Amino acid sequence: MGTTSPRGSFIAFEGGEACGKSTQSRLLADALDALLTREPGGTLIGARVRELVLSPGTVGLDARAEALLMAADRAQHVAEVVEPALRSGRHVVTDRFAGSSIAYQGYGRSLPVEEIRQLSMWATAGIWPDLIVMLDVPASEADRRLGAQRDRMEAEPASFHAAVIEGFRAQAAAEPERWVVIDGTGTIEQVALSVRTVVAERLQLRL
Ligand code: TMP
Repeated sequence: MGTTSPRGSFIAFEGGEACGKSTQSRLLADALDALLTREPGGTLIGARVRELVLSPGTVGLDARAEALLMAADRAQHVAEVVEPALRSGRHVVTDRFAGSSIAYQGYGRSLPVEEIRQLSMWATAGIWPDLIVMLDVPASEADRRLGAQRDRMEAEPASFHAAVIEGFRAQAAAEPERWVVIDGTGTIEQVALSVRTVVAERLQLRL
């Protein structure tokens, strides 16, 4: 009989546009020697979904179709990347996961939040992050960081982005044992230290 390695920990970064998730995901993954991945676009198939949903040339995409495309990306991502890595004992850090669908398609597009959550649960066969780190940056600061060149989601109006950020905060408030909110307005080093401290504490990992 072979021995089975313990399952790795699964950590997701969430937040609005330009909150610093990509930098912080990379720094944490390095510190943990974890697999770093992202949504949408963590697989070759997902990269095509990403291009479709983020291209400014995609005009008139229905909100439900957008939600299903995000869920399809997630299903492929979990099946091909996340679940095999966790099963092999590797920690996984993802730049966005289901919390983004709840915030963007639920709160941002005004689709029923619980249905969006169920759709992701179905897409992932129940695989869910052990810890979700929200980097909180006010919408006004994010708008300043974004500049003029914007993808299809970034180009949504300020009211949309404000609703999205509220959607993340609401999820974090509703499930404080799984979520942690970190102020994303500090320097990269300050935020990275806060992230490492909270991950070590919550997941009992040495960092
Ligand atoms: P980013 O990861 O580079 O920030 O870009 C991903 C964009 O896709 C961002 O605008 C958020 C959006 N998104 C959704 O609307 N729903 C989702 O489920 C995910 C994962 C991302």
